[in-house]
Amino acid sequence: MANRRLAPAAEQPQSFAFTPENADWARGQIAKYPEGRQASAVIPLLWKAQEQNGGWLPQKAIEAVADELGMPHIRVLEVATFYTMFALEPVGRFWIQLCGTVPCDCCGAKELKAALHERLGPSGKVTADGNFSWLEVECLGACCNAPMVQINQDYYEDLTPESLNKLLDDLAAGRPVKVGSQIGRISSEPKDAVNTLTDESLFDGSRVSAWRKRFEQTEAAGEESVKKDEAASTEARVKDETKPARPSSGRANESNAVDAPAERASAGQAPVKPEDQAEARDAKAPPAQDPAVEDDKILRSEPPHHPATIGAGDDVPEGENPEARADAVGTRPKGLAVPRDDRPDDLTKIKGIGPINQRRLNDLGVWHYDQIAAWSPQEIAWVGAYLAFPGRIDRENWVGQASDLAGSKG
Ligand code: FES
Repeated sequence: MANRRLAPAAEQPQSFAFTPENADWARGQIAKYPEGRQASAVIPLLWKAQEQNGGWLPQKAIEAVADELGMPHIRVLEVATFYTMFALEPVGRFWIQLCGTVPCDCCGAKELKAALHERLGPSGKVTADGNFSWLEVECLGACCNAPMVQINQDYYEDLTPESLNKLLDDLAAGRPVKVGSQIGRISSEPKDAVNTLTDESLFDGSRVSAWRKRFEQTEAAGEESVKKDEAASTEARVKDETKPARPSSGRANESNAVDAPAERASAGQAPVKPEDQAEARDAKAPPAQDPAVEDDKILRSEPPHHPATIGAGDDVPEGENPEARADAVGTRPKGLAVPRDDRPDDLTKIKGIGPINQRRLNDLGVWHYDQIAAWSPQEIAWVGAYLAFPGRIDRENWVGQASDLAGSKG
């Protein structure tokens, strides 16, 4: 890789300014970018400055571009020293950039380099006649036609030391030269005889037809096979998964008929109180996995829910109204008609309260953690009977959880 240094001070001009024509052009380039993004025009402006200065960038030109774009000088110097397309020292009338990267190196760039060295002297120096200077650079993107050089703005590819020397002779003499491949390759077609993709069946459609036919046959066979597999799998699954009907899980609609009051009365048995049923269910129920699941179970196993209003329910017969059931065992907690500041707490953050029970608590005027945190044992008993899971509020420590949540609210 070439050294990227500014030319010695003796070769640097004292000033640089765009010609009026180039200044206009630069303003047009800058105007292509949105406000605040004018720095994006740095490459075209440096390129134009290099062109105006005879093919190389002096320090004053770099600074002028930086000033034009409102950039620190060092930022533009970083750009100019990074890209080898910017020459930092005076160049010959024909500036040769020789690619020395691997593909070109494998194809003869070393020989080209030796030829340049022999004919023009060391890189970075302008020949005595002012015609040439050369520099080894990294890949110029024409690897398919390696080895290659760029001379001023044109590429010359598929070079040998002989063809390169002839090219330089012609340029120096002002004779016309051929850009691109020097061996007549068009674009990046094969260098020698075409020896790949030569089978005509690749292009006459016959391969596609055969391929499509085979694909369709395979697809049809596959579908048949999948259908057979699915049928066998379903049969096996049905065989394995068939189980006797599940015995009563305790849900109200699956209860044994003798649980009905009329049946029990006719059998001479004492009526079963709803809270006893609930307690028994609660004791037998597996631990709740999820508050919403728990709510669902409760809804299915309880008498239909009657939305409560604060203070209502005293006159409803026991066994038909959850409030009457609760009044028999405790004291109803005081409720709020509406949440304070119209911002209820999320009661589902309390483990054991799902969305449905949250709604039922809201129906009771319970909206906030601090309300639950303040429940007395009598009020806990009331709410437990009302929600038909006596004991669970204490087991799940709703009061403690609510107290913590109220405290964390600040
Ligand atoms: S390696 Fe030489 S052009 Fe890419």
